[in-house]
Amino acid sequence: MDFMSLIKHRYSVREYRPDSIDPMVLQQALEAARLAPTAANRQPFRLIVIHTAGKQEELNRIYARDWFINAPVVICACGIPEQGWVRADGKSYVDVDIAIVMDHLSLAAAELGLGTCWVASFDVGAVREVLKIPEKVEPLIFMTLGYPADKIGEKERKPLSELMSYEIW
Ligand SMILES: Cc1cc2nc3c(=O)[nH]c(=O)nc-3n(C[C@H](O)[C@H](O)[C@H](O)COP(=O)(O)O)c2cc1C
Repeated sequence: MDFMSLIKHRYSVREYRPDSIDPMVLQQALEAARLAPTAANRQPFRLIVIHTAGKQEELNRIYARDWFINAPVVICACGIPEQGWVRADGKSYVDVDIAIVMDHLSLAAAELGLGTCWVASFDVGAVREVLKIPEKVEPLIFMTLGYPADKIGEKERKPLSELMSYEIW
């Protein structure tokens, strides 16, 4: 698929087939994440890959949605602030880094026939407990992965004219 078609084809998949993901396919999606650019090339993140089989109860504490706990794989992307690049005025770019990493992952997954959905509205306390996240690390985003059982809907986006301007604000 060419790149624009891939972008149009990707959507938030919220229903998954029970089929497991071939480890080689999963590895390719993870490799795309690994190759993502990060500020000053610090790579201040860790991806926790969770095979959901048998872990539904714990996952339900994290984000109680059937499609979340039934996707064959979910990935928790964690930021490691002390390893990230910080601008002179104190602004940390760890969140930006992780967004790029996970976007690489999600687009690579789409190319491999996998569906994904970003999940931010999880229970942070439950995540820290279940996944044993160290204090200095921040669980930032989850992503489900699996073969879609639903279909793409209408892509609702603002027109470009509302989202950009030339030269000044
Ligand atoms: C940072 C981020 C966080 C999101 N968190 C959630 C979430 O917690 N639950 C959910 O169902 N969808 C979540 N989404 C999915 C968005 O709702 C979805 O991407 C958006 O509506 C556009 O639809 P599309 O992905 O199908 O193009 C999130 C997306 C992003 C980028």
